[in-house]
Amino acid sequence: MVEQKIRFDDGAAYEQMMGIWSRLAGEIFLDWLAPPPGLRWIDAGCGNGAFTQLLVERCAPAEVQGIDPSEGQLAFARSRSTSRVTEFRQGDVMALPFPADRFDAAAMALVIIFIPDPARGISEMVRVVRPGGTVATYMWDMLGGGFPVDPVLAELRAMGFVPSRPPRMEASRMEALHGLWTEAGLEAVETREITVQRTFADCDDFWRTQLMFPSVAPLVAAMAPGDVETLKGRVRAALPAGAGGSITYGARAHAIKGRRPK
Ligand SMILES: C[S@@+](CC[C@H](N)C(=O)[O-])C[C@H]1O[C@@H](n2cnc3c(N)ncnc32)[C@H](O)[C@@H]1O
Repeated sequence: MVEQKIRFDDGAAYEQMMGIWSRLAGEIFLDWLAPPPGLRWIDAGCGNGAFTQLLVERCAPAEVQGIDPSEGQLAFARSRSTSRVTEFRQGDVMALPFPADRFDAAAMALVIIFIPDPARGISEMVRVVRPGGTVATYMWDMLGGGFPVDPVLAELRAMGFVPSRPPRMEASRMEALHGLWTEAGLEAVETREITVQRTFADCDDFWRTQLMFPSVAPLVAAMAPGDVETLKGRVRAALPAGAGGSITYGARAHAIKGRRPK
């Protein structure tokens, strides 16, 4: 299977494609973390600020530092944020631009499979969190059918097409996450599954969104028109029909949290 290098350059497109999904999962994730107000957070791989915004809305933080390598994503994050506690800067989770013990909590939403060396990224998150602080993440269950674009990918494969796959999908397995957290020396490690449902207004809304995914767009662009119609019909038949032509279906993520020892 072809492994694809994925770039996130367009914060507005990302919002429609994944930001909405991210916030759906992020709400459950933050309820599970149940942090007290007034914490200093780092949001590693903050992207277009979808999860950062949720942190501000739900957790009353004292501060959130968002870091991401993509200026396109960061520009959207800055434009959407009206909060004075958030700051966004370019950076890499494998070399965080902060001193040790700087934060109370480190979160990373839907990023771990994109980090070239996930263990290094986690050790950096542990370094910048104070003793007793929290390090947590969630990622779609990429190998277990939890990725939001899986209904389309499954039908593409059934038709004989070979979609590219995001890098390092193995890091999304619960066992892999647990290994990373324990090997980083974190304690009180807990995991959970997060299931969410998203509703698309109609077929057009659904397809517009699917065609933004890097694993779908180039394949469909190169397909014969008849194949595209077949694909749409197969996906439509596989998903439950909702009222007024709406489409509702689910995705599933793995979440993990741990505490830096005191
Ligand atoms: C799927 S998006 C998640 C964005 C956001 N956290 C959310 O929940 O919507 C993945 C993000 O990881 C970022 N990323 C990729 N490699 C990274 C790295 N080495 N360090 C930090 N972020 C990285 C990408 O630029 C992208 O914005």
